[in-house]
Amino acid sequence: MKLMVKECLIKNLNADVLVIPVFKDMENKEKMFVEVNNILNKLLSQTIYENPDIGEEGKFHMFYTNSRLKLKRVLLAGLGESDELDLEKIRNLGGKLAAHIKNNSMKDVAFLSFGYDLKNVTIEAASKALVVGFKLGDYKYEEFKTENMGTKEADKGKKKYKGINSLLFVPQVKSDLKLIENVIKDAEIVSNNVCIVRDLVNKPANMLSPSLYVKEIKKIFTKSKVKVKILEEAAIKKEKMGCIINVAKGSVEKPKLVVLTYSPPKAKKTIVFVGKGVTFDAGGTNLKPSQYISNMKQDMGGSAAVVGAVKSAAEMKFPIKVIGIMPLVENLISGTAMKTGDVITAANGKTIEVENTDAEGRLILADALHYATKFKPYCIVDIATLTGAASVALGSRCTSLMGNDQDLIKNLIEAGEKMHEKAWQLPLFKEYDEDIKSDIADLKNMGNPGGEAGTIIGGMFLQNFIGENKWVHLDIGATAFTAKPNAYKSKGATGVPVRMLVKWMRGLF
Ligand code: BES
Ligand code: ZN
Ligand code: ZN
Repeated sequence: MKLMVKECLIKNLNADVLVIPVFKDMENKEKMFVEVNNILNKLLSQTIYENPDIGEEGKFHMFYTNSRLKLKRVLLAGLGESDELDLEKIRNLGGKLAAHIKNNSMKDVAFLSFGYDLKNVTIEAASKALVVGFKLGDYKYEEFKTENMGTKEADKGKKKYKGINSLLFVPQVKSDLKLIENVIKDAEIVSNNVCIVRDLVNKPANMLSPSLYVKEIKKIFTKSKVKVKILEEAAIKKEKMGCIINVAKGSVEKPKLVVLTYSPPKAKKTIVFVGKGVTFDAGGTNLKPSQYISNMKQDMGGSAAVVGAVKSAAEMKFPIKVIGIMPLVENLISGTAMKTGDVITAANGKTIEVENTDAEGRLILADALHYATKFKPYCIVDIATLTGAASVALGSRCTSLMGNDQDLIKNLIEAGEKMHEKAWQLPLFKEYDEDIKSDIADLKNMGNPGGEAGTIIGGMFLQNFIGENKWVHLDIGATAFTAKPNAYKSKGATGVPVRMLVKWMRGLF
């Protein structure tokens, strides 16, 4: 989809539809659009007069220009009361618009950009939010629909609707042109990367084993400033990463450790992202029951978010060094699989009694976090679909966040709030340490029976592998994959928390 900003007279506008955002409380609404109204022989004021609900949030009114113009249709899109406007409403509008435009097989869209009635939010933020909502609302995972693969005989040679072609911003206020131009590129980068993350997470596990995942990652970063280094099994063994090796033992697929490096000249800081990359989590010897195993292709969601965050930082040329560390494994059951009760040794030398092979994420992260400490970073942020308990604690619209530095925590929560990728802090009280003490080893990988404080226990365990570093753990077990779609989130992978991480990184320089 092409994104553009251009000053343009309505009479010269060549588009399938002109979208006009309207507020409920705009006096003499049509006055704002004199040009459009005049050209359309007052069709605009007539529509407004005949539809008193125009301007109500989420309401669309579309009419045809009856070929008076190159422009084919006008769509009035309601945003509610002007002083109640926020960015999430604009994202939702963008998502709804994308769906509406697709359903009507339109291709080229013009958007009469917000005028003087824009309150509370800046034109830059509003334009970004619209692009994000529109592009993410346009997302659908259809890679394996035969009609898209071009393999269906009946579809060959047929003219097919190929989706939205372009979105053109037409500023109402002349000075807005530059402002909009300056920000939509970044919004486009982030949205594209969220879509890449969604694609990775939606990919079935047979299409994204650790070895296939590595191939995808290399493809994603070809012609990029990001360096991709792969530690193969031998190197992982050499690093004494006993946790990664043992979790991977049940699969014929060898483990991989991916290290992404974006290192701009004169970088101000180094940060490390660590992402859980279990391409399929069957639970291992503690095999998951059917109702819990079904969506476990999502268990590499943390590592995919790392791909999205590092790629965004590089494409937006952030002046910080960003490292991404992703242990990739399959957690399967077999004759060679790790057994319940096994004792294994992590890269930092700590011994772990594996009380449950299904708590594998914290094991592979233990080694990856220890590896992260070697970069002497300003901070480490790990992202993992670590516990099902995260959805019990905070529900499916909020990520569980834990850490050891209140400033870092505050900044991440605030970034999430702004992007509407919410996160909330859970405590890491010292008292919980008792629960992960093993009788026969230094640690055990789960807490009290019954899953008591399951998400917190995950965080407590990881804390043993971060050395003296500032660290935050984002448990996206409840938010990486959704059954509750909204205007700009389709069913399945959400791409959370890439937008939050990008917003947070912007605050680091
Ligand atoms: N990958 C799962 C957690 C998960 C569940 C993510 C549902 C997304 C949706 C993780 O490896 C796991 O199985 N965790 C266990 C931990 C327990 C055995 C201590 C869990 O949450 O039950
Ligand atoms: Zn598991
Ligand atoms: Zn898992």
